[in-house]
Formats: sequence, structure tokens, C-alpha cells
Amino acid sequence: MPDRACTAAKKGRVPDAAMTELSQEKPADWWEVEALFDLCFVPGREALSSYRLRDGTAPLGDMCLVERDEAGILGGAVRSWGVAVGGAAAVLFGPVAVHPTRQGEGLGALLVYRSIEIAKAAGWQRMMLVGDASYYGRFGFRVLPDVMMPPPTNPARVLGLDLQPGAWAGARGSVTKPA
Ligand SMILES: CC(C)(COP(=O)(O)OP(=O)(O)OC[C@H]1O[C@@H](n2cnc3c(N)ncnc32)[C@H](O)[C@@H]1OP(=O)(O)O)[C@@H](O)C(=O)NCCC(=O)NCCS
Repeated sequence: MPDRACTAAKKGRVPDAAMTELSQEKPADWWEVEALFDLCFVPGREALSSYRLRDGTAPLGDMCLVERDEAGILGGAVRSWGVAVGGAAAVLFGPVAVHPTRQGEGLGALLVYRSIEIAKAAGWQRMMLVGDASYYGRFGFRVLPDVMMPPPTNPARVLGLDLQPGAWAGARGSVTKPA
């Protein structure tokens, strides 16, 4: 777990990574994860423009994570996809969701931090998402003023994180499926 997450864990904001097991999503998990996303997001989530970048493209398997409690009940999940931004490769993080009965325990933060860790280890240079800066700012995500998601997307919700120093400085333009 990154240092920042360890500090947060000590403050009780992120569950102890040793106690909270995240595993890679398996094919048998697919529909249960879909049901969790349906529960946690507005109806019609698949009409969102970010889904047009996911249609017909497999997610990044090593960045599709699930958390189950000791009874096997799904508590949280995340999936991420590869995209291109003006020719530069990036991770499109999300969707991420935590079951309403488990929210506020730090599970969301653990899913974000672990995804960042895996992406860095896999050699990705930059990560982006469409979401609330008020939540993702704590992980270092900032508005990407020069990056355009397919419309309609509120530009204030297009956020990015450098996985390598300065990685977003040279990446701008429209977000597309990877070539
Ligand atoms: C967003 C989500 C994944 C966070 O999961 P979580 O496990 O509850 O998050 P954490 O426990 O790590 O963090 C909780 C903190 O984040 C805050 N938070 C949650 N969603 C937020 C949002 N959209 N904007 C700002 N802050 C938010 C909570 O108020 C809480 O604040 P606190 O630490 O000051 O008490 C979860 O609330 C969820 O599934 N929401 C519905 C789906 C969704 O919106 N997904 C993200 C799409 S951008």
C-alpha cells in the first residue's frame, strides 16, 4: 500500500490492507459486480459517455478488483479500461462502487489506492477518470483542462493523476479507445 494509504489506515480511514482482501474479478463475478454498479449509480449509467469508450473493449483484467466479506458478500468493486488521449496511453479508472452498507469505511479509498499501485507496477504513466474532484482530489487527481471526453461530459469532472512525474504535461486532446 502506498505511504499515503498507510498513513490513512493508521487514522482509521482506510481498512487495514492485511485485513481487507481485494481479489481480481473472475468471470463468475461479472453479473454480481454489474448489480452492485446498478445499485450504486443512477439508472441508465450505461448511457454515460464514458461507456462509449468501454463498449466492445475488455477491461484491464489486473485492475478489475472485488472485495468480499467473510461471508462472501460483495462489498465493493472497480473496473478500469485502457484509452488513448491524443495518442498517449492512459488508464480510464472506474466505475468504482462500494455497497451502501459498507460506505465510509475506507473501502473506496483502498480500491483507488490499489488500482494506482497496480497501474504503476504495470508501467502505465497516467490515469484519468470522470468523477467528483471533491472525492478524488484526496488521491491527487486534478482537473485535466486539455483533455476532452466524448460529450456530454462536464469538463470539471475530467480528472487525471500522473503515475510518472509530468506524464499528463504532454498529453492532451480527445479521449478515444486505444488504437
Ligand atoms: C464514491 C464511493 C466509491 C466511495 O466509497 P467509500 O468506501 O464510501 O469511500 P471512503 O470510505 O474511502 O471515503 C468516504 C469519504 O468520502 C466522501 N465521499 C464519498 N463520495 C463522495 C463524493 N461523491 N464527493 C465527495 N466526497 C465523497 C464521504 O463523504 C467520506 O468523507 P469523510 O472521509 O470526510 O467522512 C462510494 O460512496 C460509492 O460507491 N458511491 C456511489 C457510486 C459512485 O459515486 N462512484 C464513484 C463514481 S465517480
